[in-house]
Amino acid sequence: MARILITSAIPYINGIKHLGNLVGSQLPADLYARYMRARGHEVLFLCATDEHGTPAELAAAKAGKPVAEYCAEMWAVQDELGRGFRLSFDHFGRSSSPQNHRLTQHFAGKLAEAGLIEEVTEKQVYSIADGRFLPDRYIEGTCPNCGYDKARGDQCENCTKQLDPTDLIEPRSAISGSTELEVRETKHLYLRQSAMRGELRDWINSKTDWPILTTSIAKKWLDDGDGLQDRGITRDLDWGIPVKKGDADWPGMEGKVFYVWFDAPIEYIACAAEWVEAGKGPGSEKGWERWWRTDKGAEDVRYVQFMGKDNVPFHTLSFPATILGSGEPWKLVDYIKSFNYLNYDGGQFSTSQGRGVFMDQALEILPPDYWRWWLLSHAPETSDSEFTWEGFQQDVNKDLADVLGNFVSRITKFCRSKFGETVPEGGGYGPQEAALIADLEGRLRRYEAHMDAIDIRKAAAELRAIWVAGNEYLQSAAPWTAFKEDPERAAAITRFALNLIPFYAGLSAPFIPDAAAAMAEAMDVELAWPESAETALAALPGSHPFTVPDVMFTKIADEAREDWATRFAGTRG
Ligand code: MF3
Ligand code: ZN
Repeated sequence: MARILITSAIPYINGIKHLGNLVGSQLPADLYARYMRARGHEVLFLCATDEHGTPAELAAAKAGKPVAEYCAEMWAVQDELGRGFRLSFDHFGRSSSPQNHRLTQHFAGKLAEAGLIEEVTEKQVYSIADGRFLPDRYIEGTCPNCGYDKARGDQCENCTKQLDPTDLIEPRSAISGSTELEVRETKHLYLRQSAMRGELRDWINSKTDWPILTTSIAKKWLDDGDGLQDRGITRDLDWGIPVKKGDADWPGMEGKVFYVWFDAPIEYIACAAEWVEAGKGPGSEKGWERWWRTDKGAEDVRYVQFMGKDNVPFHTLSFPATILGSGEPWKLVDYIKSFNYLNYDGGQFSTSQGRGVFMDQALEILPPDYWRWWLLSHAPETSDSEFTWEGFQQDVNKDLADVLGNFVSRITKFCRSKFGETVPEGGGYGPQEAALIADLEGRLRRYEAHMDAIDIRKAAAELRAIWVAGNEYLQSAAPWTAFKEDPERAAAITRFALNLIPFYAGLSAPFIPDAAAAMAEAMDVELAWPESAETALAALPGSHPFTVPDVMFTKIADEAREDWATRFAGTRG
């Protein structure tokens, strides 16, 4: 038995995530967590909301709410949607938690002690009316390039030109509209990542088993360009983690907070502390350290992270720089599974344009297993992939309704009508059953190998083939025909086919947990991972009771598909 720490990139708090976000981190992380638990390993699976930074402040302002209140509400919404998709987090935390405040300040203190933090004096726009320094995007004015009058201090949305706040004509505060602005000197902290290039390179080079997508991005940022430039880790915002050196004030840093990308990954650690604090973990207050500190029991933990490709530089360079730079024995990630993008119907999912299907909408129209199956079996692993309504309808109807659902319904109903609601006794198995056992044995091992390697599409394809094999067996063994000539043989076929249901339930649970639970319940067994095809298919003895489950998967009709395609074409309310 191994111990496996799993984290999903923590979603931004500002709004409900779309299916592209879901399949890029949380959902595959859940698949892996469920699989590893099923294989008997000790798993700690963590996720949280990423609550700081300008996007959170701006979204709260747009919603007309204090930012703390906005974040608390949006956390609850995301938490609920996570449950809706059956994301089996051991804890769903918040980067604004007191635990993350403490740890982020702790790391900053350690980095400063190690000489890895530099104080840099900069000139920055100060708003007298607002009584604060303004981040670039909080300054608005007229674009010197195109004359657009709502250009932001970092960029003009109209002509896309990158700007400096001092380029703007008639600059004003985006918070109050005040034009009483002046340039003042202020200090910021920079993390000297460049000093760690060698250490980071050695570490990344040692990871020979990582997916190509992960290492290619990591190496590109490591060697060419700006990837390892010293990075500003403080901001002038109200909402965030106050800049401190451990418990101590940091002179000159009054009113400043840490940059969101500095504190967000530290939440992976803080989340474990929140988990214990919430009473869900080990009893002792410091129990979480056995997952995170290699001097306190975490040396045998395998840590796996899941994320979209845009997150890779932060997880291969910046966060490891924080961890290594602290000089303390924190656990570094062992494996990073990263994803390309899922596109939507000929374009991109877009949060700002409301284009595509968002998590709440998806659950309004279909149960979670439909989405889980389709998204995971089309996970954008080696290239971007695309969601189309036709493809979704076709795959879900075939795999889930025609193959798996039909198999379960057909054999349970047949048995009920001919033998009653208990597994029939009598008769013997022959070459057909032996052949299927041998086939499934090979498939089971290949499926496990793909799941171990987190090759999600390959795993899904093998699982589908396992379902298909049972269907084909039933079709060719045809107990309904055998029944007329040889009821004993029909009983044996039926018993064998019924035994496939718990086998399917166990193997399918990481992908489609609700259907798996329904199958196990109908067969009156506990969900379990099969030891081997042979033992699993002999598990249900004659006279074991079962019930015919409700229809597991209803087919998606053409009208519904057309309806949804129109409804989700854009302009979410
Ligand atoms: N909120 C970021 C995003 O959605 C991910 C943050 S991951 C962490 O892209 F490392 F910062 F935690
Ligand atoms: Zn412009």
